[in-house]
Amino acid sequence: MTDSARIESLLSRMTLAEKVGQMRQISGAGEGSEEAIRAGAVGSFLNVIGDQARAFQRLAVEESRLGIPLIFGRDVIHGFRTAFPIPLGLAATFDPEVVREAARIAAREASAAGVHWTFAPMVDIARDPRWGRIAEGCGEDPYLASCLAAALVEGFQGRDLSDPERIAACAKHYVGYGSAEGGRDYNTTWIPEGLLRDVYLPPFEACVRAGAATFMSAFNDLNGVPATGNAFTLRQVLKGEWGFDGFVVSDWESVTEMISHGYAADARDAAAKAVAAGVDMEMVSTSYEHLESLEAAGLVDVSQIDDSVRRILRIKERLGLFDDPYRGTPRPDPSLSPDHLEAARRAASGSCVLLKNDGLLPLSSALRTVAVVGPLADAPTDQIGCWAFDARGEDSITPLQALRQALGADRVLYAPGLDSPRSTDLRGFADAVAVAQAADAVLLFVGEDALLSGEGHSRAFLDLPGAQAALTQALVATGTPVAAVVMAGRPLVLGELAEQVQALLLAWHPGTMGGSAIVDLLLGRDAPSGRLPVSMPRTVGQVPVYYNHKNTGRPPRAEGPTIPTGTPLDPEGFTASYLDVDHRPLYPFGYGLTYTDFAYSDLKVSTASMPLGGAIEVSARVSNVGRRAGVEVVQLYVRDLVASLTRPVRELKGFQRVALGPGESERVRFVLRSEDLAFHNAHMQRVTEPGRFMVWIGPDARRGLEGEFEVVG
Ligand code: NOJ
Repeated sequence: MTDSARIESLLSRMTLAEKVGQMRQISGAGEGSEEAIRAGAVGSFLNVIGDQARAFQRLAVEESRLGIPLIFGRDVIHGFRTAFPIPLGLAATFDPEVVREAARIAAREASAAGVHWTFAPMVDIARDPRWGRIAEGCGEDPYLASCLAAALVEGFQGRDLSDPERIAACAKHYVGYGSAEGGRDYNTTWIPEGLLRDVYLPPFEACVRAGAATFMSAFNDLNGVPATGNAFTLRQVLKGEWGFDGFVVSDWESVTEMISHGYAADARDAAAKAVAAGVDMEMVSTSYEHLESLEAAGLVDVSQIDDSVRRILRIKERLGLFDDPYRGTPRPDPSLSPDHLEAARRAASGSCVLLKNDGLLPLSSALRTVAVVGPLADAPTDQIGCWAFDARGEDSITPLQALRQALGADRVLYAPGLDSPRSTDLRGFADAVAVAQAADAVLLFVGEDALLSGEGHSRAFLDLPGAQAALTQALVATGTPVAAVVMAGRPLVLGELAEQVQALLLAWHPGTMGGSAIVDLLLGRDAPSGRLPVSMPRTVGQVPVYYNHKNTGRPPRAEGPTIPTGTPLDPEGFTASYLDVDHRPLYPFGYGLTYTDFAYSDLKVSTASMPLGGAIEVSARVSNVGRRAGVEVVQLYVRDLVASLTRPVRELKGFQRVALGPGESERVRFVLRSEDLAFHNAHMQRVTEPGRFMVWIGPDARRGLEGEFEVVG
């Protein structure tokens, strides 16, 4: 592309110091900020908004030599003031429309506060729920994550980035960050190139295709080269193969962290390596102050600096900052407007996954009283989740508030039992048991507080923290039926809970309107439609557990092990299984119930052989065989049976949300093109290899109607 005359003219007039200034990002307003702005020694701030941002912008455009506007970035991850469900919850909607709308609203609120650029979407594939940042991504599947990544970018940016109600997106953390060994944040990652290209890179490529303005280089060391010094991923793949024309910002001090990684000797060396790799802007650390002397010494090429500056100016121009540096601010704050709150409620409702229901839900209107128990029934800040910086607990509607409003305060008996999820203080149990005994049903709100997930907040155990399991037991012992609602930032180990209660709803951290959404579902004003974007382990010992694994040479029996006591521990006949637990997850990827039942029948594959470059139609009839209306998320999976490299046992290739009334049915059709079956072979060529394929249309990654076809060369 050719850049505007304005950009070229600016570049030709900029001193090297001014160019380097554009490549620096400072956090917050501090001593020396104003001087740096006037000197053209900074191109961006993060965490400066509102009046302060406007004052800084005025200095930049009116008092710096070239008047280049600043770009203000901020973490607007799952909403601004109106908090939406955590991204993993948004992913559970399997609904790109809802996700796009969430991002649009976040952009609308943030842009009014002077934010130009969000550090989102986070599109790291994660197969390890111990990793606290699994909360911030779209789950374990590259296809689902790619669809939602594109929707998030489109939602933040709209069609025209100069629209003052839109903001620039930043695809992060590029790349492999979600594969941290042991689930410990920031830890080492080892990802063979084929796996990187087939699983970890696709959501990032989807962001480029959707027009993402920026990328963030990750903290992790990828195959021995820190992601922030990684010329292969940044220059070769992102800027080369994909033709990305926006700019790359480092993560927070990830340039100088290359010293701790043992990849750079000092800040000067780190700066040279980051620029050579293609990191255009340095967040927070100040190693780029060495770029002038590095250039003078011939250690950094000025053409690389020019390329970085051109990219940064390009995005500033696309944002309209040269024409209106204030992007229409100040303007009335649209935060928490009724339509934003309604969108947040809808998203929260769509994100809830019904894991079990013995018929207790929806609650019968004949129930006189309900006992509301658990540390998360009325936890306005925790329900917001790990990363909606600007959201406030005081704006949240909690389940307790919503229930009191829906049923009348006298029908709601409240005793939290524990005052926080991690509490082990049992003194509240007696009251909790008393309300359970007095009520017709117990609604139990358990899970994790918000700070148990997110950056730097990984866990080695995945069970309910504190004394929540004991609280559950005490309530179950009363004999009153229990519906449990779990709020959490990750998949937890919920087998014991599921066995004990009559109904189990996974609500993630649902955001500002979480209480209203959950209560609508519990009362049947709305029906659950969320599906799992990650497999739910039976025990932490199974991790990593994900649906698109390989078959192995000794696949375990589908039904899992039995370990009769007193016999040799050889239940599976030497297969890739465990002696002491079923190898499969408790609930598979894609799983989720609703208040009606769906039946699948009559799978049709349009033709038994698909030519390379061609396509087939795969369809099945889906019928609502229950008594209520509901939404089914119909999923299409394939398996490449024999290939030059072994392929996963299943791969998601399509999904559709289908709303059906009782007794209704619909033929759901998917088009599968031969290129959808491609993978990276040993030479890293993306190929579809002729041969036999299995195909399934079903309700999750474990079930479905099965068919077959052949790709012919
Ligand atoms: C570090 C985090 O890894 C990243 O996700 C975030 O955007 C930056 N800090 C800025 O706050």
